[in-house]
Amino acid sequence: MTLKLWTGCRVATMAADGPRPYGLIEDAALVVEGERLRWVGPRADLPRELEAACAQRIDAHGALITPGLIDCHTHLVYGGDRANEFEARLGGASYEEIARQGGGIASTVRATRAASAAELQAQSRVRLRQFLSEGVTTLEIKSGYGLALEHERKLLQVARSLGREQALDVRTTFLGAHALPPEFAGRADDYVDEVLTMLAQLHAEGLVDAVDAFCERIAFSPAQVARVFAAAQALGLPLKLHAEQLSDCGGAALAARFGALSCDHLEWLSEEGAAAMADAGSVAVLLPGAFYFLRETRLPPVALLRRHGVPMAIASDCNPGSSPCTSLLLMLNMACTLFRLTPEEALAGVTRHAAQALGLQDRGVLAAGMRADFVLWDLQGPAQLAYALGANPWRQTIFKGESR
Ligand code: NIG
Ligand code: FE
Repeated sequence: MTLKLWTGCRVATMAADGPRPYGLIEDAALVVEGERLRWVGPRADLPRELEAACAQRIDAHGALITPGLIDCHTHLVYGGDRANEFEARLGGASYEEIARQGGGIASTVRATRAASAAELQAQSRVRLRQFLSEGVTTLEIKSGYGLALEHERKLLQVARSLGREQALDVRTTFLGAHALPPEFAGRADDYVDEVLTMLAQLHAEGLVDAVDAFCERIAFSPAQVARVFAAAQALGLPLKLHAEQLSDCGGAALAARFGALSCDHLEWLSEEGAAAMADAGSVAVLLPGAFYFLRETRLPPVALLRRHGVPMAIASDCNPGSSPCTSLLLMLNMACTLFRLTPEEALAGVTRHAAQALGLQDRGVLAAGMRADFVLWDLQGPAQLAYALGANPWRQTIFKGESR
């Protein structure tokens, strides 16, 4: 296999055991073998024999290199939009009120059910390309706007199909327990039965990489979520939870008891919840886009998460209701300005910790043996990624060893 040598760059490896900060290596070299990294380190330390074996040499002309970015929480595939609700909220209506009146998630469910797979794919592809243009190489997509077998299947198939047609990895998450569909009004427990049936079927069809639920007053109770989680666990699927977004329902502690990969949102997380997450090794996925767009005032307890040593990831939450956002770079900036993360924590949040939130051990840091997913930026240093509000200093993405 041809070895490719990259030089003329500084590399933010983001390796936890690398040099501080950012695992940064000045005047670095990377050796790529097929889809993997064979060697990463200071150019001066590159073994002579390895250098001699490299058939292809590439000068990065002073680029900053980071791992490919990972968006570990999106609802990217949906029909329609909710600009009307944005206007209503600016006029004083609350997100919860709109949801209780049959708008919110339910209105996107209507639009998603009405859309054909081809229409959904075309609309979603536009959003996906915006993420690609900012160096995203792995992106999670949740279902949850179908809420009936044929529509959840359609949505997950579109997500898989986008992953095949574009040069990035799509990970699918089944979020059947996102909202109560109208045909089950007043019968939430019956709908949970239906969620279990859908899960078993869609898993059998190979469409599900993980399982999520929305634990909230306007969604599902901890007891209902526990039923979904028990079924998912029996199928060997990893778990995630929308927890403590609008109130403290104890969702994070519940998810931690099930060994969930991540708990997401967390503005109302309690100390008990944070401690449970730390014990379970669950990642806290913070979503500054939803916080900003819903004009929330209660901040996720970042100091508490730090104190308990809970790893923090950052994601776009791309969705039509609470975060119509297709820029992970903007999320880096907001994680710093709104949540007071350091730029290094924010970058770890879309690389190393985002990989952890998806249960992926082969990416998120640049080190020998990891996937050769990396991005060249026209930047001097990694803090500029979070700093440059609205800029896109992207130059090139290498996905599985190849330029895309
Ligand atoms: O992550 N919290 C629940 N789900 C989404 C919002 C979905 C919607 O409003 O369409 C979220 O914020
Ligand atoms: Fe979400």
